[in-house]
Amino acid sequence: MTNPKVVPVRPDFSDTDIDTILASVRTSLETGQLAQGEQVAAFEAETARFTGARHAVAVASGTAALVCALRATAGEHGDGEVLVPANSFYSSAAAPLLAGLRVRLVDVEADTLAPSSRTLEQAVTDATAGVLLVHMGGIITPEVTAIADWCTRRGLWLLEDCAHAHGSRLGGRHAGTFGVAGAFSFFATKVITSAEGGMVTTDDDELAARVRLYRNLGKPEEWRSHHTVLGENARMSELHAAVGRAQLRRLDEFLKIRDRLAQRYTAGLYGLPHVRPVLPQHAPASWYKYVVALDPAVDRAALRARMREAGVQLGGEIYEMPLDAQPVFAGRIPVGRFPVAEDLCAHHIALPLHTRMGEDDADAVLAALRAALDTSVER
Ligand SMILES: Cc1ncc(COP(=O)(O)O)c(C=O)c1O
Repeated sequence: MTNPKVVPVRPDFSDTDIDTILASVRTSLETGQLAQGEQVAAFEAETARFTGARHAVAVASGTAALVCALRATAGEHGDGEVLVPANSFYSSAAAPLLAGLRVRLVDVEADTLAPSSRTLEQAVTDATAGVLLVHMGGIITPEVTAIADWCTRRGLWLLEDCAHAHGSRLGGRHAGTFGVAGAFSFFATKVITSAEGGMVTTDDDELAARVRLYRNLGKPEEWRSHHTVLGENARMSELHAAVGRAQLRRLDEFLKIRDRLAQRYTAGLYGLPHVRPVLPQHAPASWYKYVVALDPAVDRAALRARMREAGVQLGGEIYEMPLDAQPVFAGRIPVGRFPVAEDLCAHHIALPLHTRMGEDDADAVLAALRAALDTSVER
């Protein structure tokens, strides 16, 4: 099959970005300052400034951000249960388990992709220690502050998984500033990337200090071999931080382009049968994914194949199966019935969305979708 004309994701580095990154990398290589140096410190300070969080702590991945934040929040011998949305990515459930906590899955709402406060209220037990809220596709649930307040009243912590939500804001507040901490990923497919990397944001001085401890082998002093907690090496390198900084500088520009493409999709999908876009009710949104829920009558595999024949490669779903169906979690996470999450997993697609697309590409996606829908609905 020929290469697709429209691909689902593509990192965006301008010539200027590449020159800036290469100059920083050259300095790191020449000086030998490869870890925990000025690039990492600057990336942290710039992320804190961008999000409005008091602290930002750079780590090696989004998974490491979750694990370090959970250890720092729940303690080294994490105890208790975390409520996690059933339709999230592996790491949202794996990180609590890796941090010694237990996971209980909860269902989500079809229009926010997040659990409602009512669902959380029904799921909470005496064993519940906290809630992991995932801003799926970059959508912040309008209930986020109600959920944060409810957690505080209940003596629970709220951790935000912001892997999809760089730049998403609700009421002027950034993702990663509603709960006790936020965990970002800078993997290559994300809205901005450091190739691999992650960041923990928090307003809590002590929590930030503990995240630093857990990311750096449990050493209170950076370069002294004196270890006080069972930490891991989750540090971000100077080279990765240089890449991340160049991307962060362009995040506002990326958000505008993503929004323009998303609005074009929304206008183009208006009135189209069998599809229902899942739209954020706030701006800006990261539009990490443009999620389109499908009628169950639509054969998704056939739709994907037909669009691919038309030169459009759809993005990966968020996600294809509920977490309790993943083989690794058998016996580790209680199975359950999550009707909305199950339905979403089985019946949605993610349209291509990245900053190297033009509006003509968005139109090509819409045309391919319309044509593919005509032949992918079981009658
Ligand atoms: C919702 C979510 N949480 C956590 C992660 C983990 O991030 P990383 O791949 O950087 O470890 C990802 C993505 O990759 C994600 O999509």
